[in-house]
Amino acid sequence: MAKAIKTIGVLTSGGDAPGMNAAIRAVVRTAIDKGLKVKGIRRGYQGLLDEEIIDMDRQSVSEILQKGGTVLYTARCMEFMTEEGQRKGAEICKKHGIDGLVVIGGDGSFAGAQKLSKLGINAIGVPGTIDLDIACTEYTIGFDTAINTAMEAIDKVRDTSTSHERCSIIEVMGRHAGYIALWCGMATGAEDILIPERYDGDEQALINNVIAGRKLGKKHHIIINAEGIGHSASMAKRIEAATGVETRATILGHMQRGGRPTCKDRMMAALMGSYAVTLLEEGKSKRVVAYKNGKICDYDIDEALAMQKDIDDYEFEVAKVLSR
Ligand code: ADP
Ligand code: F6P
Repeated sequence: MAKAIKTIGVLTSGGDAPGMNAAIRAVVRTAIDKGLKVKGIRRGYQGLLDEEIIDMDRQSVSEILQKGGTVLYTARCMEFMTEEGQRKGAEICKKHGIDGLVVIGGDGSFAGAQKLSKLGINAIGVPGTIDLDIACTEYTIGFDTAINTAMEAIDKVRDTSTSHERCSIIEVMGRHAGYIALWCGMATGAEDILIPERYDGDEQALINNVIAGRKLGKKHHIIINAEGIGHSASMAKRIEAATGVETRATILGHMQRGGRPTCKDRMMAALMGSYAVTLLEEGKSKRVVAYKNGKICDYDIDEALAMQKDIDDYEFEVAKVLSR
């Protein structure tokens, strides 16, 4: 039988996401409810190696539910990519009596949790990233807030684009994944949506679309460009030169990662954070919390990291039909 967990640690790692605080709160309060001690690890794996470890109680997570960012801070840590760094991390956990660890982050952070699990620290991943790009889960904490933030910004750019009868290229986050671009593009009626999973680099097709739109009497032309494709400013210059339609580029950037989490993000964070602690209490390790078919569930980290995910063809086709 697995050794009973007495103390758990919690950290946030990789890019932050709105709702991470709600997840930390859920972890801390669920653990305390189960009679466990909780230690917060600041600045992700870097903070673990630097022993930035604090005791947490119910009050230490008061008033954070509604806030963006992460009160534990986050970081990227190269040293933890090495076996030596991982061994050091596991030793530090043991030194502080941390026998279970909840890691809130993306795929990279889960790879770190996988390594710690193999070194004897029971680790559980909770999906927190605005990109929605974790294959084992249909939802990642932060996505809903990010798409609503971006959608509101795009609506505003669209107003001025229409007044000036311009073309606007609006770049949204997503270095490897086009979910934010697709959702925001559909929600704002964008004429073109460029995502890393599908864009074939055919700029002439974009130019033709802008010209066709003008002929139809369209007063604006919105192109949502995912960060993974990038080059929005130079693309704007080329499109303007080829079409004669004044074109501006707007890069929304990190504002998409901040702000008060939406109700959905707070709810998902609460459920996923709490579930992670239940897994640890049951003696489980090397698992990722996921959301599938309307239910919270979990997968082995090896299995989760081997899964693939792609943009839904139906969603992409509908986006094309509606933009014509
Ligand atoms: P995300 O978790 O959002 O995908 P990153 O990919 O930047 O973000 O990963 C966050 C951190 O997780 C890295 O800086 C590193 O410390 C740790 N990490 C990433 N990949 C690995 C790996 N293969 N092995 C161990 N740790 C890793
Ligand atoms: O959190 C995910 C993400 O926003 C990606 O879409 C983006 O490419 C990346 O983080 C940028 O991260 P940073 O600027 O913090 O390195």
